[in-house]
Amino acid sequence: MTNRTEIAPAEGKLGILLVGLGAVSTTLVAGVESIRRGISQPVGSLTQMGTIRLGKRTDNRSPLIKDFVPLASLDDVVFGAWDIFKENAYDAAMNAGVLDKDLLNQVSEPLSSLKPMAAVFEQNYVKRLTGDNVKTGKNKMDLAEQLIADIERFKSENDCSRLVMVWCASTEIYIEESEVHASLAALEKAMYDDDPRIAPSMIYAYAALKCGVPFANGAPNLTVDIPALVELADQTSTPICGKDFKTGQTLMKTILAPGLKSRMLGLDGWYSTNILGNRDGEVLDDPENFKSKEVSKLSVLEHIFQPEVYPDLYGDFSHVVRINYYPPRGDNKEGWDNIDIFGWLGYKMQIKIDFLCRDSILAAPLALDLAIFMDLASRAGMKGVQEWLSFYFKAPQTAPELYPEHDLFIQLMKLKNTLRHLMGEELITHLGLEYYD
Ligand SMILES: NC(=O)c1ccc[n+]([C@@H]2O[C@H](COP(=O)([O-])OP(=O)(O)OC[C@H]3O[C@@H](n4cnc5c(N)ncnc54)[C@H](O)[C@@H]3O)[C@@H](O)[C@H]2O)c1
Repeated sequence: MTNRTEIAPAEGKLGILLVGLGAVSTTLVAGVESIRRGISQPVGSLTQMGTIRLGKRTDNRSPLIKDFVPLASLDDVVFGAWDIFKENAYDAAMNAGVLDKDLLNQVSEPLSSLKPMAAVFEQNYVKRLTGDNVKTGKNKMDLAEQLIADIERFKSENDCSRLVMVWCASTEIYIEESEVHASLAALEKAMYDDDPRIAPSMIYAYAALKCGVPFANGAPNLTVDIPALVELADQTSTPICGKDFKTGQTLMKTILAPGLKSRMLGLDGWYSTNILGNRDGEVLDDPENFKSKEVSKLSVLEHIFQPEVYPDLYGDFSHVVRINYYPPRGDNKEGWDNIDIFGWLGYKMQIKIDFLCRDSILAAPLALDLAIFMDLASRAGMKGVQEWLSFYFKAPQTAPELYPEHDLFIQLMKLKNTLRHLMGEELITHLGLEYYD
């Protein structure tokens, strides 16, 4: 046994503040309401359905994660949101078309009463959308102060003891880190100067961190992955994590690629294409917004295959990712992968994957787990980048000197070992020699 970390109890209500009330957010809120009523099961959620092995394999100790660590109960969760459109969560869920009307009607009351607060929005960052539920202000610092006022009001009106914020809004255009993001002082000056390089998502993250509210980024935008906001998270002892929920095709990649590599099978190329017809697909149809997604999706294979360590197997593979906006499919994306591999003596083989997935059905439980685990991290005094939550992301945020770990199974081991560590349990290495002594 190691020392147990002191963790404040999960007492009172947890407010989950969602930036963006679109397909993912409404699928999350409707899902939690339906699970609370016993209508549905929290399938896909590690915090709700996952177990954790403790001690030796012969000990037969595998409690549910939620019984092992003190997590907020779904009964204590309340939701708040911002969106550039005024429609309530029920109407937004109907428009998103992810969940059946019958299911939505059973939870219509809490959904209809969830009305989005006015958003911080800049057209240049999301070219394809225009909404009228948008704040105006003197400059970007003024907008951040308005968000801080929203956060404080929400907390007191809903009698919350804690809050977390999850970015579930549209993907912003690709921007590179620059000097305005390099330190907190530079960022704050740029916010007063209304600098165009300060994205709306950074203003939300700034407001959250100023209030000590953990911030998780479900989209590929830079957002909290800049030195200025890492500095603020450190200053206010607040956890942060990102970026880009790991759901359909990239989830499959990080399941399959470690397997191919573990058998020392070579790779000539991996071609991935998707058709997607929801609002996210429409936003990503713009090349500048798609660039953010592309960068996030492309990074995965390079890190898993380590071409510099295995030049003969992975030194020269081509990796292409496409997303095409195709309205008839709505949220029910189809992702195809063609993988050209080679085996013994260089003989070539192919693998084809056709994943008929549902984007928001895969993403909603991730958003829930992130909110629940970020609240745990905060109560456990964990501040700054939460690398143990890499499991949930396509492009995990890490300390600057580290490369991200993409292998799903290593990510899961890291997550569970972090929970064991927090609770003072032995870490599991899978060595197992002790069974043969
Ligand atoms: N569904 C998945 O599998 C998945 C996976 C990885 C990442 N994501 C990301 O999650 C995000 C949400 O996906 P979605 O399918 O719910 O998209 P969506 O288009 O249905 O919802 C996004 C919502 O955000 C709102 N919005 C845009 N800018 C905003 C701002 N500045 N402030 C407040 N609201 C704003 C939009 O009006 C929209 O209602 C996207 O960025 C998407 O790329 C989704």
